[in-house]
Amino acid sequence: MAAPALADVRAAQARLRGRLQPTPLLTCRSLDRLAGRRLLFKCELFQRTGSFKIRGALNAVGCLVEESERSGGGKPRAVVTHSSGNHGQALACAAQAEGVPAYIVVPRTAPQCKQSAIRAYGATLVPCEPNDKSRAETAARVVQETGGVMVHPNQDPVVMAGQGTIALELLEQAPEVNAVVVPVGGGGMIAGMAVAIKALRPDVKVFAAEPRNADDCYQSKVRGEMTPNLHPPDTIADAVKTSIGPNTWPIIRDLVDDVLTVSEEEIKQATRLVWERMKLLIEPTAGVGVAAVLSEQFQALPRDLGNICIVLCGGNVDLSSLTWLTALPGKGQ
Ligand SMILES: Cc1ncc(COP(=O)(O)O)c(C=O)c1O
Repeated sequence: MAAPALADVRAAQARLRGRLQPTPLLTCRSLDRLAGRRLLFKCELFQRTGSFKIRGALNAVGCLVEESERSGGGKPRAVVTHSSGNHGQALACAAQAEGVPAYIVVPRTAPQCKQSAIRAYGATLVPCEPNDKSRAETAARVVQETGGVMVHPNQDPVVMAGQGTIALELLEQAPEVNAVVVPVGGGGMIAGMAVAIKALRPDVKVFAAEPRNADDCYQSKVRGEMTPNLHPPDTIADAVKTSIGPNTWPIIRDLVDDVLTVSEEEIKQATRLVWERMKLLIEPTAGVGVAAVLSEQFQALPRDLGNICIVLCGGNVDLSSLTWLTALPGKGQ
């Protein structure tokens, strides 16, 4: 299976039941006024481990354990992944819950708070260079050395299916929703969500949001072919520096309606706005979705898109990196 189907997302939802609580959907009148629409904030920052990533990780480890139990082979020897932090943290947590060793390949530059959290879940950290090639090569070596199973942060269909449960929850919580806005890195979250949404509610628009400095998804849609970032992107939204891949690209090409790109300044302003107005400590990557909805490009969309859900995908803020905040001109928006 290279792409999940609705049935896989439903199976993931059944697997996660009782292990994760549904995340709340919050509203904010002052942000509604700024956007000129009703905004629904899907609060994945409240999810276990501080981001939506635990959904995909628990689904993947749960599937591996079920498979090895069926074949009478005991538990998987280990799970391995590469991640800028949130997936690593989530996989470490899921593996610890199942009693499976976890090896996490992390770029040297990943925020310290994320690295410490991975260690706290008992996983082994393996450092690599901050680019897609080094991540993949280091993880392949660790798989060979440990006999572990690679759980890719965004190209694994089982991980995508887990992330797709955000959409199932949302459609139950807010059937009136007209569009979702989803920050995109490797594309696992938007692919899983788009599969579920377009199967159940093809009328609901699915928008990707990404930093203009890491706009591989936008470029891919414009060119009609997968166009990865040429250089390691320079963006404050550290969780979406990675490019979409061969499994998520066809789903994005076929099911994502449009890609919205935002500047670094817009991301910072939007993040600060959510902190100040909603009192939610989102990480800047979640600010990408908010910035997209406040952008001129979004304002130009038809007014009948009245109820917009933004996935506030994570809250793992590196508090030691907040020097950008004092350098920001003005007060919010
Ligand atoms: C908080 C947060 N938001 C968004 C993303 C992007 O998710 P994906 O790579 O599935 O597109 C990530 C990925 O690490 C993340 O940690």
